[in-house]
Amino acid sequence: MSKEEARKKIEKLSKELEEHNQKYYVLAKPSISDYNFDRMLEELMKLEKEFPDLLRSDSPSQRVGGAITKEFKTVKHDFPFLSLSNSYSKEDLKDFDERVRKGVSGTIEYICELKYDGVAIGLKYENGKLIQAVTRGDGEQGDDITANAKTIRAIPLCLGAGRDLKSRPTVPDKFEIRGEVFMTRKVFDAINKEREEEGEALLANPRNSTAGTLKMQNSAVVASRKLDCFMYMLYGKDLPFKNHYESMKEARKWGFKVPDYLAKCKTLDEVFDFIDHWDEDRHDLPFDIDGVVIKVNSYDQQKVLGFTAKSPRWAIAYKFKTETASTILEEITYQVGRTGAITPVANLKPVALGGTTVKRASLHNADIIEKLDVRVGDTVFVEKGGEIIPKITGVDMKKRPSIAHKTKYISKCPECGTELVRGEDEAKHYCPNEWGCPPQIKGAMTHFTSRKAMNIDSLGEETVDLLYEKGFIKNIADIYELPKHKKDIQEIDRMGERSVSNLLAGIEESKQVPFERVLYALGIRHVGETLAKKLARQLRNIDAIMEAAEDQLTATNDIGGQVAKSVIDFFAEKKNRVLVERLKKIGLQFESHSTPLTQSAKLTGLTFVVSGTFTKFSRDDLKAAIEQNGGKVVGTVSGKTGYIIAGENMGPEKLKKAEKLGVKMISEDEFEKMIK
Ligand code: IVH
Repeated sequence: MSKEEARKKIEKLSKELEEHNQKYYVLAKPSISDYNFDRMLEELMKLEKEFPDLLRSDSPSQRVGGAITKEFKTVKHDFPFLSLSNSYSKEDLKDFDERVRKGVSGTIEYICELKYDGVAIGLKYENGKLIQAVTRGDGEQGDDITANAKTIRAIPLCLGAGRDLKSRPTVPDKFEIRGEVFMTRKVFDAINKEREEEGEALLANPRNSTAGTLKMQNSAVVASRKLDCFMYMLYGKDLPFKNHYESMKEARKWGFKVPDYLAKCKTLDEVFDFIDHWDEDRHDLPFDIDGVVIKVNSYDQQKVLGFTAKSPRWAIAYKFKTETASTILEEITYQVGRTGAITPVANLKPVALGGTTVKRASLHNADIIEKLDVRVGDTVFVEKGGEIIPKITGVDMKKRPSIAHKTKYISKCPECGTELVRGEDEAKHYCPNEWGCPPQIKGAMTHFTSRKAMNIDSLGEETVDLLYEKGFIKNIADIYELPKHKKDIQEIDRMGERSVSNLLAGIEESKQVPFERVLYALGIRHVGETLAKKLARQLRNIDAIMEAAEDQLTATNDIGGQVAKSVIDFFAEKKNRVLVERLKKIGLQFESHSTPLTQSAKLTGLTFVVSGTFTKFSRDDLKAAIEQNGGKVVGTVSGKTGYIIAGENMGPEKLKKAEKLGVKMISEDEFEKMIK
């Protein structure tokens, strides 16, 4: 393809992708499948790689991320980034209304909006292009998080990019729009579920997750967190509007995600109606809000009212009360998860909270029980904050019964009686009896058949339970023996001929599931979907993974010592090896056909040791760059080591060994030259 052709194709693809992006993320009206969208994006990225000088800073490919921000630059705000004064009662609002009416003459119109519970962001646009995204910081200056913000699909990179040139909106040459970045509860729950499965500490609530995500150094990880963004305020010199409402309506036309939850109110009673409505209905929203914001609509009136040092006099936030209740802790029970992880559960005397009746709350782990010193019989405070599962925030010590025994965490598995174990860095206790503990056996099978693993959808939890109870399946390999028992299974109540045929067809089909998902399906502790993908791509087949030493495993991006140990432990177990051999014979995929994680093959066949501290790159960056160019990273120096990338304060042992073996030592600059 000639450069000119590539330019045209890139332009066409970018336009179409932005158009679909708008439809999907801003207007919530998608018109193509995710699959086709991804194909177009892949095509664009391929062309941009082939013709790097055609890559534009507002290309839709920027949304995939990849840029690493070492340190976020501090940026001074063009307009002070003020916050709002808070009110907690309708009385407070009456006072606010009085102050406003005293301050300005004429009719007053308020705009009521939701107070989104996320992280504030300011987006600067010049000539229709996003040029900088900044956090609030201390109000005077914030952090430049542009690379991360570009991965948020609801944030337009170029206004009207999805439209023909003629129908693009006319926008001010220079303006700033501010809004709130947030994470929907669905995304938040999915992240936490994955973290739980991988034994990682859970994130507290969507707001904290958003804040943490926005400050991540790797924008590709930010992209994977699927953040969203609502806009709520426009700033600029001589904006062509008379009031806030008009500005928001227009911003929506420019392509910004301005939510529909806006109300024009002429009286305070109308404001109260808006508040009451959302106080009641907020739980039905897919994201968290913590109140309502009330703004004087007219720009002229806003100007007259002005600001205090911290906040505008023309706006106020009304904060909802955090919903808490107190109730009695009747019992602590313990659940055994698929991986053997134990979760203590507080069984409560039912209590009304946030529109539902709460009977149970997670107590997470032994440390939390210890910290709260929560005991059966206690009156506990239950809160429904950002989290869906209510949490116990404390104990009403005044109400503690005279006999309340300190909670003793269980030491044996409640299901199979095996002594529990707890690793050094682990928050949770585990039952190690994975081969004999029923919920673990059944859980392992349900995980194996689940959608993201082997995707045998007619073998869900209930059917697994049934076939296990009837003695047909005791481990995952037995699933593939089920065709032999076709007749007997058909005899089971609820399992008609048709559902058995579906089941067997699903089992047969699963033999084609790619290796990375088979690896995930094995249910190795800490090896979730993403890490399974990385391991499969890097080490290519099951034999390599089974035989890998710790440093070979940790040479893979993001595989830490804990995961490596877990993989090694898994395959050290003879039963697991036998199981894999059985699955191999059955014909499951144990070889990766995915593209290796390489961007070039410049370092193929070369082995590197990275040691010391560096000025330009982090150690992880260097390791990633080695792998992305086909090289291999190992932890120890040996005769096979091709190069040592040596930083400052390199370990003396490594240095001695390198000198003895005559391994070539290079600096980070020399390495950079090698891959350029
Ligand atoms: S307007 C000068 N509108 O609430 C007024 N803020 O202290 C600027 N927030 O962290 C704020 N939803 O990010 C405004 N609809 C909304 C909002 C909103 C949430 C956040 C804002 C800031 C805090 C105000």
